[in-house]
Amino acid sequence: MDNRPQWGTRTGFILAAAGSAVGLGNIWRFPAVAYENGGGAFLIPYLFALLTAGIPLLVMEFTIGHKYRGSSPLSFARLNKKVEWLGWWQVGISFVIATYYAIIIAWAMSYTVFSFDLSWGSDPESFLYGTHLQLTEQEGQFGGMNYSVLIPLAIVWIVVLGILIKGIKKGIEIANKIFLPTLVVLFLIIVIRALTLDGAIEGLNAFFTPNWETITSGKVWVAAYGQIFFSLSIGFAIMVTYSSYLPKKSDITNNAFITAFFNSGFELLAGIGVFSVLGFMAMQQGVDISEVVKGGVGLAFVVFPQIINEFPAFNQFFGVLFFLSLVLAGLTSLISIVETFVAGIQDKFHVSRTKAVAVGGGLAAVFSLLYATKGGLYFLDVIDYFINNLGVALAGLVEVIAIGWIFRQLHSLQNHANGVSDILLGVWWKLCLLFITPLVLGYMMFENIRQNLSENYGEYATSFVVSYGWIVAGGVILLGILFSLKGWSKTSLSIPTDKK
Ligand code: PHE
Ligand code: NA
Repeated sequence: MDNRPQWGTRTGFILAAAGSAVGLGNIWRFPAVAYENGGGAFLIPYLFALLTAGIPLLVMEFTIGHKYRGSSPLSFARLNKKVEWLGWWQVGISFVIATYYAIIIAWAMSYTVFSFDLSWGSDPESFLYGTHLQLTEQEGQFGGMNYSVLIPLAIVWIVVLGILIKGIKKGIEIANKIFLPTLVVLFLIIVIRALTLDGAIEGLNAFFTPNWETITSGKVWVAAYGQIFFSLSIGFAIMVTYSSYLPKKSDITNNAFITAFFNSGFELLAGIGVFSVLGFMAMQQGVDISEVVKGGVGLAFVVFPQIINEFPAFNQFFGVLFFLSLVLAGLTSLISIVETFVAGIQDKFHVSRTKAVAVGGGLAAVFSLLYATKGGLYFLDVIDYFINNLGVALAGLVEVIAIGWIFRQLHSLQNHANGVSDILLGVWWKLCLLFITPLVLGYMMFENIRQNLSENYGEYATSFVVSYGWIVAGGVILLGILFSLKGWSKTSLSIPTDKK
C-alpha cells in the first residue's frame, strides 16, 4: 500500500518540474553566459550539453524518483544503502541554496514596489548598494541587520511554506499552475515590447553573432555544461523528489524532453529580451553594447532599473512586469528546493508534512537572515559560487559514477523508463551517462578546483573564502554522511506498490 501523495495531473507535474527549472538562471544567467562565451556560436556547445548531459540526466533523475518513490535520500537508500549519503548531500546543497534564493526573491519583491514610483532615482547603482542593501565596505562583516528587507523576506517564506504545507496536489501543483503561465504571459509582454525598441536589432546582433573561434576553447564547453546543469536543476535532489510523486503509469522520457525544451525555450526568450533592451540602452547612452552587458544581481537590480528609467513610455508598468517576473520565476524554483528537504525529513523521521515544513523550512528561514545583514551580498556571492561549483557539479559527478559505474544501475533504470515511456531509451542514453557526462564533469571539477586553489574567488580574503566557501561546500558533504548514519524503520526501504 502506497500512501505517498501524487500529482493530480500530468500537466501539473510538468508545470512543477518546468517551474523549478525556469528560474533566475534563465533570466539573468543565460544571456550573459552565452554572450561571454561566443554569442551565437555558444548555441552549439549549449545544445550539445543539453542533449548529452542535460536530458540524459534529467531522464535518469526522473526514473530514480519514479522507480524508488522516495525523497532523494530515501530513493538512493532504496537503490543501495551505501549511496543514501549522496541523497542527503544533495538535500544539503538545496538547503543552502534555498537560504539565499529567498533573499533574492525578497529584493525582487521590494523592487516590484519600487517600480511604482521608480524609487531608485537616477542612480540605481548607489540606490541598490547604498540605500537598499546598505552594503558594508568589506566582505566578512555582518554590519548589523538591514531591517528594510525583513518584511519582503518574511512574505517570501510565508508564501512558500504556506504552499508546501498544503501538499503536492493542493499546494505545489496549484501554485505552479498559476505562477508559471502568469510568468510566461508577463515575460512575453516584456519581450515583445523590448523587440520594438530602438536599438533592439543591434542588441540581438551582438547576442547572436557567432564568434566561432571560441568554440574550440575548453572554457566555453565547461560554461555550457555548467549552465545546463544549473538551469535544469539537476544534481539538486529536486527532480528525484518531484518524480517520486508521479503515479505508477506515467511517461518519463517524454516528460523530461518537454521540461528540458521548455526551459531552454524560456532561456532563449530571455536572451532575446535581455539583449533587445541592452541594445536599446547602449543606443540611448551612445556606448558599445559590451559596456552594458552584465549578469546576475547587477543586471537585474542595476542595469534593468537604468533601462526602465529610459523607457519611452509606461516605465512603471514595465518595471512592475519585470520584477514580478523575477518573483514568480524565483518562487516556483524556491518551492521545489525546499520540497527536497521537507520530503527528506518526512521520509526519514516519519513526521507529518506540516512538521517537516515547520522544521526544515523554519530552519532555512532562520539561516536566510545571514543575507539580511548589511554584509549579506558578499556572503551570498561566495556561497552561491562555491555551492554551485563545488557542490552541484561534484554531486552530479558522484551521482553518475555511483549509478553508472559502481552500482551499475543504468540498465535496470533504462528498463524501468522504457516500461512506461513513449520515447524509448537506447544505447546513446547509457553512452552519454557512462562516458560523456563523467568526462566533462570530471574535467570541470578538476579545472574548478585548480583555479580556486590558485586564486581566491572574487579577490576576497582567504579567511572569508575558506569559511564561507570551502567549509560550507565541504560541510554539506559531512552533513550528508551524518544524516545517513541514522537507520530507517523496517518497512521504509521496501518499495511500496501502487494503491488500487
Ligand atoms: N534551475 C533554476 C534556474 O535556472 C535554478 C535553481 C537552482 C532551481 C536550484 C532550483 C534549485 O534558475
Ligand atoms: Na533554468
